[in-house]
Amino acid sequence: MSHDLDTLLTEFNQSLLVVKTKTEAMDLKSKFIGPKGHISSILKSLKDKSPEEKKEIGSKTNEYKIKIETLIGNKLSVLETEEINQKLSKNWIDVTLKDSNLDLGLNAGGYHPATIVQREIEDIFLSMGFDVLDGPHIEDDWHNFGALNIPADHPARDMQDTFWFADNLHLLRTHTSSIQVRGMETKKPPFKFVAPGKVFRCERTDASHDMVFQQLEGMMVGEGIAVSHLIYFMKTLLSEIFKREVDIRLRPGFFPFVEPGFELDIKCQICSGKGSSEGCSVCKQTGWVELLPCGMVHPNVLKAGNIDTEKYSGFAFGLGLDRLVMMRYGIDDIRLIHSGDLRFISQFKSY
Ligand code: PHE
Repeated sequence: MSHDLDTLLTEFNQSLLVVKTKTEAMDLKSKFIGPKGHISSILKSLKDKSPEEKKEIGSKTNEYKIKIETLIGNKLSVLETEEINQKLSKNWIDVTLKDSNLDLGLNAGGYHPATIVQREIEDIFLSMGFDVLDGPHIEDDWHNFGALNIPADHPARDMQDTFWFADNLHLLRTHTSSIQVRGMETKKPPFKFVAPGKVFRCERTDASHDMVFQQLEGMMVGEGIAVSHLIYFMKTLLSEIFKREVDIRLRPGFFPFVEPGFELDIKCQICSGKGSSEGCSVCKQTGWVELLPCGMVHPNVLKAGNIDTEKYSGFAFGLGLDRLVMMRYGIDDIRLIHSGDLRFISQFKSY
């Protein structure tokens, strides 16, 4: 029997030499030491042997079993290493490759200046208990005009050159005041909210006008809301934004959805209000920039929003967000803001 075992081991060693894959190694393992393998059948045949033979052959067989197990184990780990090395040699990555964009710092992102200012203003209003609302860019006549006291034949429609859709029913919102209407649909007074967003006007562009620009609408409705509340919130807002007292002036302004209506101007931060002597293109040499049309919400607007005008009143404002961005960062052409020009935008990365 010992002779048989030696022959078996020689046979195993010869087979092991030609094993090339892990599957072949596993097959060889089960052929010799698996439950139906050679070693098992030797052990099974022991039942007819004498106790001495059982003892001798049994221990020898176990010894060989362990030997075979070890040899197979070694072979498997050699094959595994070879497999890994082969994979590595095929799929290598050059970790020394240089990313020139990264080297120049061009991959580092940042916020758009308009986003920075918008978030800051949202935070100021949130801290004063206002909600922040959103609305669709594509509006219908009612939300952009009708509910805002601008009926179909009203000349005020000419104030805002409109991009109409071919169906003549839908348009690109010309102002964020449409969100006043949407706000009144979903909220019960008292309420106060701001609503930032892009607006669209079909008009000639110049340094202070673009076809796409951003506004931030504000509305507060409650019992006894008066012009004094409007002035308080506007003053607080501007001193928070500019981190100092900013010179402002109020002029009467006409908007069908407010009565009385005002134009709030701030002293031009580009030319420090010097105006004509410096030839400033932002304030058109007046020294003042029209920043914030506002007023007391017209009763017709409140009625369109199903609000009891005997009980409630409110104020509204429409802040020109881009103008504020220009004042803040000293940008002298509004068209740069939506230009998508990286040479312009990348200057704000560190803000
Ligand atoms: N919606 C007006 C505009 O875009 C601005 C405005 C808003 C005026 C709210 C008064 C009150 O011109």
